[in-house]
Amino acid sequence: MKAGFYQFNPSFGKKEENIGKVISALGNTDIDLLVLPEFFATGYQFTHCSEVAELAEPVPDGYTTRTLSLLSRKKNMYIAAGLPEMHEDKFYNSAILTGPEGFIGVYRKTHLYLEENLYFTPGDTGFRVWDTKAGRIGIMICFDWFFPEAMRTLALTGADIVAHPSNLVLPYCPDSMPLRCLENKVFAITANRTGTENRKEGPALRFIGKSGIVSPKGEILIRASENEEALMITKIDPKAARDKTLNAFNDIFKDRRPEMYRTPHKE
Ligand code: ACM
Repeated sequence: MKAGFYQFNPSFGKKEENIGKVISALGNTDIDLLVLPEFFATGYQFTHCSEVAELAEPVPDGYTTRTLSLLSRKKNMYIAAGLPEMHEDKFYNSAILTGPEGFIGVYRKTHLYLEENLYFTPGDTGFRVWDTKAGRIGIMICFDWFFPEAMRTLALTGADIVAHPSNLVLPYCPDSMPLRCLENKVFAITANRTGTENRKEGPALRFIGKSGIVSPKGEILIRASENEEALMITKIDPKAARDKTLNAFNDIFKDRRPEMYRTPHKE
């Protein structure tokens, strides 16, 4: 199957323009799974709760989810993409999965980064995996990668591919993802953004680009540069993620010894 990401520099608040940019970048490209950045249609740096309230949407009935569901149906493809979600009286940093069948599901970011903590509620969905025609797809969002438990939980739940919508600002993820993939023997597709946002006092947020796809062997199959806007696609076989053996004696899942992983109880 063909899997890819679109790395670009969204303009804050301009949903239609940003979604339009994704649609023109895709053109007639043939692709089975596309991963888009975290908050790909809204931009990232909110300055007030009222801005979040203005741009956040219900899922699946909001504009962005409906538009991506239609695009998925029309192009017979799966899309994983990040958006601010409004649910009851709360806001979540969420990512949706859509496919040829329409809306499939939502994941709400577990580990909030920096000022996301001012505006969003920590996710309550847990890590989810969907069994699709393009393989078993799980989602984590940006900073979730810093917690090995996130990818481990997705892998143990059966993910072949971890879709990873991101707005990375720290430098560590691109070089760490090969280890995350190797230790879980899964594919990861990190879709990061480019550009800078400087919408409030304090240092500007500079997004590091370097989106990439990594194999279950920890190989970087494709990687974008720091600044380019690029749709990059490669062929992968999701079933390659189902063999967890290393040799005749070792299977990295069967060899796990959870009873030895307990942290000491406080007396
Ligand atoms: C991040 O989680 N957006 C760094």
